Amino acid sequence: MSGEPRRRRSRRAEGEEDLGPRYRRSPNPDPAPEEATEPSNTGGFTTEAIDAAARAASRHAPEVRTDAVLRLVAVSRQYGEGATAVSALRGIDLDVARGELVAVMGASGSGKSTLLSIAGGLTETTSGQVVIEGEHLQGMPQKRIAQLRRRSLGFVFQDFNLIPTLTAIENVTLPLELDGFSRRVARRAGREALDSVGLDAKHDAFPDDLSGGQQQRVAIARAVVGGRRLILADEPTGALDSVTGEAVMRMLRSRIDEGAAGILVTHEARHAAWADRIVFLRDGRIIDESRRQSAESLLAGAR
Ligand SMILES: Nc1ncnc2c1ncn2[C@@H]1O[C@H](COP(=O)(O)OP(=O)(O)O)[C@@H](O)[C@H]1O
Ligand SMILES: [Mg+2]
Repeated sequence: MSGEPRRRRSRRAEGEEDLGPRYRRSPNPDPAPEEATEPSNTGGFTTEAIDAAARAASRHAPEVRTDAVLRLVAVSRQYGEGATAVSALRGIDLDVARGELVAVMGASGSGKSTLLSIAGGLTETTSGQVVIEGEHLQGMPQKRIAQLRRRSLGFVFQDFNLIPTLTAIENVTLPLELDGFSRRVARRAGREALDSVGLDAKHDAFPDDLSGGQQQRVAIARAVVGGRRLILADEPTGALDSVTGEAVMRMLRSRIDEGAAGILVTHEARHAAWADRIVFLRDGRIIDESRRQSAESLLAGAR
């Protein structure tokens, strides 16, 4: 599994049914020349190295972005009441723009999954605002939130979460068909999405007949099919070997470069190095935030 990811190409002919706005990449205000190359391998780092990277990187002023796909404003989430209450998130502010991948790192229990779940409208905030493409989730009817999830959001989980009785293409097209697209349109979009993650020959395979890496690529295809604009990935490489994990990261990065926004929860610095920014969580708070260049060079230097 090597080589550059294929670019998705539109195969839509004139006058055919449309799936909605295609990705359009916004002008990058801060073109990073090294984005054309792969991030350096930052494996073998220590927790101290991450802490050092985060501390040093926190001196960089956060970039001001106006084209946020996701905006979390003072988001807090408490589970339970009274003496047993757990504050999973405490006052999180986070924007994720088009074409931007933000990695979230932190110890187990620091609130990473809760953050993703809130960003995806699966969990409600206790206080604070969640805004997706300018729409506030608070007060939005559940039906509308479910629709937004089907149309605009894609989830990728550690354990793939594919439906075992459906083929690869059926897994990918399911959200579109649920959303009322015709089978023909859904199939075409599904084929395009699977081709774009290099699974041209596996459309009709069942999950059991695919390797872990291939299953995760089906999950990525499902997360982006039909022009989903916010991809939320919770340790998508956690169940994969390092070579396969790297290939999956390359796919994810390429989808983001086409104009989606993404959050990647990961324990691995070498996967976080594919992100534009790394956000470090501790006890439900963002303790540090680093831009890609600084995090990469610091992690590399700390090895
Ligand atoms: N549904 C829940 N009910 C009660 N407590 C929860 C629930 N989900 C998460 N928590 C608690 O919230 C904290 C953050 O959890 P989580 O977001 O899963 O962290 P992470 O993904 O970083 O491991 C933990 O203390 C966890 O036990
Ligand atoms: Mg988690």
